[in-house]
Amino acid sequence: MEIIAIANQKGGVGKTTTAVNLTAGLHAEGQRVLLIDLDPQGNATSGAGLEKRELPASIADVMLGEAGLIEVIQASPSGFDVVGANGDLSGIDIALMGQVDTHLILANAVATLKDQAQKDEVKNYDYVIIDCAPSLNLLTINAMLATDGGVIIPMQCEYYALEGLADLSQTIERLQELNEELHIRGVVRTLFDARNTLANDVSAELETHFGKLMYHTIIPRNVRLAEAPAHGMPVLDYESTSKGAQAYRKLADEVIEQSRQLTLDLE
Ligand SMILES: Nc1ncnc2c1ncn2[C@@H]1O[C@H](COP(=O)(O)OP(=O)(O)OP(=O)(O)O)[C@@H](O)[C@H]1O
Ligand SMILES: [Mg+2]
Repeated sequence: MEIIAIANQKGGVGKTTTAVNLTAGLHAEGQRVLLIDLDPQGNATSGAGLEKRELPASIADVMLGEAGLIEVIQASPSGFDVVGANGDLSGIDIALMGQVDTHLILANAVATLKDQAQKDEVKNYDYVIIDCAPSLNLLTINAMLATDGGVIIPMQCEYYALEGLADLSQTIERLQELNEELHIRGVVRTLFDARNTLANDVSAELETHFGKLMYHTIIPRNVRLAEAPAHGMPVLDYESTSKGAQAYRKLADEVIEQSRQLTLDLE
């Protein structure tokens, strides 16, 4: 079971689109995947086809110590599993104020889930994908401390793309003291418009900056990707032949290949 966080404190760069569609892509490749929504906006929840206002239980219950992950997992219409989020998650840092180790709540919950998978009490997921909010707050820190499969950073190739990156890198570096497995798994270019000169320049700059950490797959700006959430579907279910769907399938392949390479390296 690999735990991967999708994070970038910049808003609207395609985190949720990547979380939902990478999950669907991995699922389509026969992987067992759990998508955890860790954003009070609940966009990954609704994008995966769950009604965020009618969740029987959510990640907020886990964060408040009232439930384990196993108790809040729901099946999505697409066939992968989801732990949903909604407005109940907002203000959680205030609710947790004064308690100890609040940064490790999700890490502990994930450790329990792994134990339960060992005992066959829950599906032994290949991947757990966590969609983060556009912030470096307590929730995002919880996600980063829960990962062992690294952080995937979606980046839009625009002028300000690299701004704020220092904060993100610094946060990751600091948190490595608490989670030695924390690392950047890869950077994925999103909302890409190949006809745009600036986008190409920024893309080249990202390659210089991140080198091998760049995914080869580039997610194009694709209207089907923007439409799919309104239908409560990953783009693979909404229009499997679209450029957006194909791109996320390719990204899923790259992520699986990374895992395979890691296993080979360990042997
Ligand atoms: N490749 C794409 N092509 C077209 N539209 C896209 C693409 N990726 C994302 N979008 C649209 O752009 C908007 C922002 O995307 P998304 O919600 O995935 O970003 P986010 O980083 O999760 O945002 P937030 O920071 O608010 O959580 C959404 O309306 C989404 O449908
Ligand atoms: Mg989002």
